[in-house]
Amino acid sequence: MPGDTITVKDNRSGKTAELPLLDGTAGAATVDIGPLAAQLGYLSLDPGFVSTASCKSAITYIDGDAGILLHRGYPIEQLAEHSTFPEVAYLLMHGELPTSHQLYSFNADIQRHWMIHEALRSFFSGFHYDAHPMAMMVGVVGSLSAFYHSELNIALEDHRRKSAVQLLAKMPTIAAACYRHSVGMPFVYPRTDLNYCENFLNMMFSIPGQPYYVDPVFVRALNLLFILHADHEQNASTSTVRVASSTGANPYACIAAGIAALWGPAHGGANEAVLAMLAEIGDIKRIPEYLDRAKDKNDPFRLMGFGHRVYKNFDPRATLIRKACHQVLEKLAHPDPLFELALALEEIALKDDYFIERKLYPNVDFYSGIIYRALSIPTNMFTVMFAIARTAGWVSHWLEMKADPAQKIARPRQLYVGSPPRDYVPLKQR
Ligand code: SDX
Repeated sequence: MPGDTITVKDNRSGKTAELPLLDGTAGAATVDIGPLAAQLGYLSLDPGFVSTASCKSAITYIDGDAGILLHRGYPIEQLAEHSTFPEVAYLLMHGELPTSHQLYSFNADIQRHWMIHEALRSFFSGFHYDAHPMAMMVGVVGSLSAFYHSELNIALEDHRRKSAVQLLAKMPTIAAACYRHSVGMPFVYPRTDLNYCENFLNMMFSIPGQPYYVDPVFVRALNLLFILHADHEQNASTSTVRVASSTGANPYACIAAGIAALWGPAHGGANEAVLAMLAEIGDIKRIPEYLDRAKDKNDPFRLMGFGHRVYKNFDPRATLIRKACHQVLEKLAHPDPLFELALALEEIALKDDYFIERKLYPNVDFYSGIIYRALSIPTNMFTVMFAIARTAGWVSHWLEMKADPAQKIARPRQLYVGSPPRDYVPLKQR
């Protein structure tokens, strides 16, 4: 109820503090610990934000125990079945599903901004051919600030929305350019007669001088993967975008910060790591050996694609992607031994007490690489694919926080455990 509080008693001083209890639309009530410092002089510590909310948000809700994921209240299963990635991006950014006119003009807006500045294309020649595409992505997206800084007054909502559309539009073009550079192929210009996923596949795989057939099976699979990766509450990369944006930094630089955070194997880099892990395991007979390694505290090996900070049940996205793997591989008559291995690994792990006790289930990254492989997307591009989709979430959280008059610069406190004050010791006396 509004006005509810919890009482915190300080056993040192005998003093108490009344901390407000805040109720959201769903999920756990949240204690506002802001008054703690003022009333009792204490700070709070929660490394990794395991049980600490960093903000209020209306964009996405996850019930980790029930395996529920909602975007603006709509279940991910329904969006996966009925929607398109641009429509989900609109929903995340604006809060409502678009009318057909709104969706038409949103798509037209994105298509208008698909191109990247011609000068930006020369950046790629500075990268060695075998530069990791995520390294190129971070650098090139960050440099967009140099091209659009002058037109940008983020105090104006109109400028903010335009930057959000610019980013949504240019990410696929930059991603495809990273791939084309890495394989020594000429860049392909975006085509406004194709939709978001068709255009991306064309920029990735079309061969100059030859017509490129955009396989509808590929388009449907890509659309699903982009929808399932679009947003996920305050994950590490989204939180990074929020922290960077809280200083008033240029949105292109903030999204580049999010791309950098996403790259880590504990986060978006896991999809690439899953394929490497499956290839290393190689055979169903070796699964017990690797499960033992995953359980061995002295072995740094972890079961990539398993576990989640919030989901303590199936990640609904993993369930949808597993189903899509079956469909795509059957449609393409393209059996993938790594998919069979992944299914076996999931089955065996989910019967193992270690994983059951810790509620470790497959997450979004466990099966996504199987579909990317079927679409002929190379492993080192998997996290780039994640970044394209998550841009919808990143820009939506950016817009949400920039519209919040109460937002402040993110500046966490700390528990100091270093040396007490001491005097300088001259070099000769050390
Ligand atoms: C994403 O936040 C998001 O929403 C992220 C994401 C999104 O859409 O943005 O969903 C995308 O990043 C998915 C996660 C991708 N990462 C991986 O698949 C990497 C493998 N997973 C783990 O590294 C781990 O599960 C995390 C990082 C995902 C979550 O780590 P937590 O919540 O900090 O959990 P923890 O490390 O404290 O683990 C709790 C226990 C530990 O064992 P005990 O000390 O209790 O004995 O579970 C164990 C861990 O050792 N454990 C694992 C494991 N994950 C956790 N053991 C083996 N293999 C694993 N994968």
